[in-house]
Parts: sequence; structure tokens; C-alpha cells
Amino acid sequence: MTQSLLQLNSEWQPKVEESLAIKQLTRRSIAKNLNISPGSVSKFINCKPIAAHNFIRICQELNLDWGNASASEPERNDQIVSFKFKQNSFKANPGGEIAPQEIIGREKLIAQIWSILEQQSLIFIGERRIGKSSTLKKMKAESASSMVPIYRDLEGIRTPIEFVEVVWQDIETYLREQGKARRVREFLGQLQETQFTGSRFPHIADDYWKTLLIKAIEDLVTLQERQIVFIWDEIPHMLENFSEQAAMEMLDVLRSLRQTYPDVRMIFSGSIGLHHIFKNLQKAGYRNDPTNDMYTIDGQPLALEDAIALTSYLIKGENVSTFNAEKSARDIAEAVDCIPFYIHHLVNQLKTLEGEVSQNAIHFTVEESLRNPLNPWKMDHYRERIDNYYTEEQKPYALNILDLLAINPPTSFQKLWQVLYSDPQTNNKEMARTIIRLLMKDYYLVQSGSIYSFRYPLVQKYWRFSRGL
Ligand SMILES: Nc1ncnc2c1ncn2[C@@H]1O[C@H](COP(=O)(O)OP(=O)(O)OP(=O)(O)O)[C@@H](O)[C@H]1O
Ligand SMILES: [Mg+2]
Repeated sequence: MTQSLLQLNSEWQPKVEESLAIKQLTRRSIAKNLNISPGSVSKFINCKPIAAHNFIRICQELNLDWGNASASEPERNDQIVSFKFKQNSFKANPGGEIAPQEIIGREKLIAQIWSILEQQSLIFIGERRIGKSSTLKKMKAESASSMVPIYRDLEGIRTPIEFVEVVWQDIETYLREQGKARRVREFLGQLQETQFTGSRFPHIADDYWKTLLIKAIEDLVTLQERQIVFIWDEIPHMLENFSEQAAMEMLDVLRSLRQTYPDVRMIFSGSIGLHHIFKNLQKAGYRNDPTNDMYTIDGQPLALEDAIALTSYLIKGENVSTFNAEKSARDIAEAVDCIPFYIHHLVNQLKTLEGEVSQNAIHFTVEESLRNPLNPWKMDHYRERIDNYYTEEQKPYALNILDLLAINPPTSFQKLWQVLYSDPQTNNKEMARTIIRLLMKDYYLVQSGSIYSFRYPLVQKYWRFSRGL
């Protein structure tokens, strides 16, 4: 093993890209400044091992702490050994950032997303914590060479100009080899009446967000060779932060950009259903259908075999003692409906138990977590969503329907209606039907033939416990 080589920790790649954008450096300019080959700089950026002294100098040039930015010694073993290494290093980390190689499964889904992107943009929705962001991050980490995915979490963005600024920064980062976003810079130069060389928009740009967004995309399509996929995670959160007028205009501009520049693809994702955002905008007079050109994919739990694989890695990584690791992995995966977030949580709790984990211990731990008023598995959003996104008229319907289904076997509409109509707050039959459909859109319920039930037995249990039913 060579001691004089270092490589970038892949989790630091976004920081490197950010630093390149902020300092307006390119591979070539760094190579020139440090008198090293551009190939070494490319290797650095792509997390390949390079000479340690060059690694340290590049980090210094980018104002990065080289000690933290460097990965452990480059793996020189064959693939089988590195695979074992990954499995042993698995730790339960519910809700935390996990490395792309610790994101299990999703291969078919990612292949499906790439294939749809060849034709059109898409919306990737799904229940909270089902693994949407993880899938998108894995997709970015393993991107095919014909398309360039640019991932952005938009949760903290509060105004259209902030959004355009991050899009522009991402474009400049991507274009660092080809040149800067010239149209944007020229426009900003005209606005402030002096050449624009910064990496943040001046305040004078605030009212020109549409022009700047269009120019940024024009810069991108003129200079790019490959198709770009903007992965905008938490876009519903961002739109919710905007004024209604700004949200409507943003949706229209994005749609018009997709139509004008068919080579630019967008993925909208997020933890709030876009239908709630659209419903509020419609109340404010919005009549357009701004995503009717986009394909919708509904995120699902892990496939059983992937859920078992993830659980097995975590059992091993956390040294959870079991009678039969394979059986326990299956029991754990099934106890939480193969939802990876809860698998992490459950293993995290099981590792603290004394003795070997039994099936009873698994069920007891699940129930205890669902009952716990401190909400350790963050399931209270199922209840809060009703308060936050359903109208006063809709709420009693939603609560009554969920209460009924929480304690009954799968039920037909007719049977539900027999109970609903006797309550004066829920005696409108069409409204009852509308709310059932809304509850299906919000992942509470599924329909099989004419029968309705909770989509996930885990959520049904949570509902029963939390409502004292
Ligand atoms: N494929 C996976 N393999 C391993 N762990 C996963 C996987 N997918 C998700 N997780 C775990 O579940 C957690 C939640 O996943 P993620 O943040 O991707 O969900 P999300 O659907 O984006 O959630 P939100 O609705 O809150 O945005 C992750 O932090 C990770 O611990
Ligand atoms: Mg997410």
C-alpha cells in the first residue's frame, strides 16, 4: 500500500464543486496556478488517488481542510474485498446522510428514471421517508455518461431570485470547463453598469429573476455537450415558501423552459405532495396545469430482497446478536413494511437490547416505538398532514375514514358510508368519495377492487395507537 497517495472522500465532491464555483476556478486554472497536470486535478475531482503533496496543495487552493477531505487509504484490493468492507461498515443512521454505496437496491427504479428522462421530465413523488432523496443521490452518484445530473435540495430557498441564483451557480459549476455563463454575466453587468465578476447576484437583480433564469438556461444549452438533468428535491417546499403569485409564475416559466429547450430535463421531487401546492394556487386563481408534460413516478418501499439485504448489513455492522441472522433480517424488514428509514430505526433500537433478538422482541420494539409519544420514528406527520393540508370541512371525513379503517379489516365504500352518514359532520356522500381519493393520493390508503385499506400496516398500527383506538 502506497502511503504517498490520497484521494477525495466522495462526500466532499459537492464542497469541491461549490468552492470551484465560488472561487471561479477551473481544472485548467488550478493546474496552471499549481504547476501540476490538469489530469491530476481531474483525478482529484473524480475521487481518484493522486500524489499526497498535490492533493494537499489543491485542497489549500480550494480552502478545504485536506485532512477531512481525504478518504481513507485508497482501496487496492479486488472488488470482493471492497464489497465485504462496505458491508462491515454499515451503521444504522435513520434520516442521516448515507454514502451512495450504502443506499441499497433501487437499481430498477433508477434505470426506469433514466429511461423516462430520455423522453421527458418527471415528477418523483412518494410517501415521506420512503427513500426518494436517497434514490436521487444514488442516481447522481452512478450517473450514465450521456446525461449530467445536477442535484439540488431546495428546502431552504425562500424567493425566486434565490432559486435562480443556485441554478446559475450549478450551471457555472458544470460549465467550468467550457466557460462561464456569459449571458447571465453580461446581463448583470448591464444592470449594475460595471463588469460583473462575482459569485452571488447583486440585489439589483432581484426583480429580474425570470430573465436571469432564461439566460442561465440559454448559456447552458449553448455550451453543453450532454443532456442536463436538474434534480430539484423539495421543490414543493420551495414553492410553499414563495408568494402565490411567484409560485405560479415560477411553475409557468419552468414549463415554458422545458418546452423551449427540450434537451434540458427536470426532476421534481419532495416530501409534500405537489397536489396540495396546486390546490392552494388554484384557490388563488391559478388555472394552468404546469406539470402536464411531466411523467409521474411513485416511490415505493424497498423490494423485499433489498430490504433484507439492507437489514443484514446493518445487523452485521451494528453487531446485533441474533439466533439466525437471515431470519431476523427478514422479520425486521417485514415488520416495517420494507421502508428503509424504519429499518435503520429498528436496528438502531434492537442493538441496545440485551441477549439475542427474537421475533417477539422485534414486534415489541416496533409497537413501543409507535406508541412512544416522543415520536421517535417521526410518524406524527401522518396526523399533522390532515391539520395542515385538509380544510375544516374535509378533516372530519379524513379522521373518521382513517379511524374506521384502522380497526377494521379492508372495507368497501358502502360499509364505510353506513357509518359516515350517521355523523352530521360526514354525511355528504360525494365529499366522502373525494376524501377517500385524497387519502389515497396522500399514501394513507390503497384500493383493491372496491375495497379500501391502509397502504402500510405499519401506518395502520401507528394510527390505531396514536388515536387510542
Ligand atoms: N435505499 C436505501 N438504502 C439504505 N438506506 C436508505 C435507503 N433509502 C433511504 N434510506 C434511509 O432512510 C432515510 C430516509 O430516506 P430519504 O431521505 O431518501 O427519504 P425521502 O423519501 O427523501 O424523505 P423525505 O420525504 O423526508 O424527503 C435515509 O436517511 C436513510 O437512512
Ligand atoms: Mg427527501
